Amino acid sequence: MQAKLDQIKASFQKELLSVSNEDSLREIEIKYLGRKCELTMLLRGLAQMSDADKRTFGKAANVLKLEITEQIENKRSELGIGGSESTLDVTLPVEPLQMGKLNPLTSLQYEIEDIMRSMGFMVAEGPELESEYFNFEALNVPATHPARDMQDTFWLEDGNLLRTQTSPVQIRTMLAHGAPLRMICPGKVFRYEAMDASHSHTFFQVEGLMLDEDTNISHMKAVMAELLSTLFGKEVKVRLRPGYFPFVEPGMELDFSCLLCGGKGCRVCKHTGWVEFMGCGMVHPKVLEAGHIDPKKYQGFAFGFGLDRLAMMRYGIHDIRLFYEGDIRFTKQF
Ligand code: PHE
Repeated sequence: MQAKLDQIKASFQKELLSVSNEDSLREIEIKYLGRKCELTMLLRGLAQMSDADKRTFGKAANVLKLEITEQIENKRSELGIGGSESTLDVTLPVEPLQMGKLNPLTSLQYEIEDIMRSMGFMVAEGPELESEYFNFEALNVPATHPARDMQDTFWLEDGNLLRTQTSPVQIRTMLAHGAPLRMICPGKVFRYEAMDASHSHTFFQVEGLMLDEDTNISHMKAVMAELLSTLFGKEVKVRLRPGYFPFVEPGMELDFSCLLCGGKGCRVCKHTGWVEFMGCGMVHPKVLEAGHIDPKKYQGFAFGFGLDRLAMMRYGIHDIRLFYEGDIRFTKQF
């Protein structure tokens, strides 16, 4: 008798493993718990047994029946098929809610916005789908200009494009607010590039613009040193090198002292002690004119840096693609 029960149990479990839908589960249920199933037959046969046997085998058979019932119910909920009312236990603890978290790029962006606001900069926005005029022409990059090749562009069939930089928002904000002006614009930009651990066709930039009657590069150095030192919680030095961007004159690149080695030289800073950070310079008079601002009265600086690289450096992330995969296990770590 016991051997028979063991055999029923073993074949039930084997069959249960291959169940993958409601119908096959129902079949198994009838086969092992139905009115004419082997187990029911065995239980009926108990009547002919001695009292001692009735007790032992009766108990064993009922235990097996319960076990089978339970496993079928488990399978049912595993398959997402509504269980019968009687198995709904309203006292069970609720599954904890899966909470999302801000992408590290977004939280870094918010932090930058706060720091810049504290220095009097407004936070502006502009469209991701841009016209050729705002993305290039107004920024002193006419159609024939070789600088167009500096940024591989996603063109739309109607002649518009996905902005390759946040610089068009400089023009839009000048037109909307005039001078004096202090603004930053964090936003998504797009370039026609292959993806790898350090390149993405979609990434984030933070644009900055400050205009007044005597704003100059020393103001920019101070603003950037303040931004970076607050972000990293320690003193960060900045230095300037000459650089070329058609919308600034003179154009420059700004580096900051490597935070990983403290300027001594390491792999991240390619043993120079400095990390290349952003393009910047004094706003070109033609750009001011495109923004309807008088270049004889106002002057100022503009900059643009990549948010992704800054976030990678800050959080020790080695693959830019992680920011864009939307994997909650990644975002939850920050
Ligand atoms: N828009 C430039 C880029 O994407 C960066 C930049 C912004 C340079 C503002 C100078 C002034 O590379």
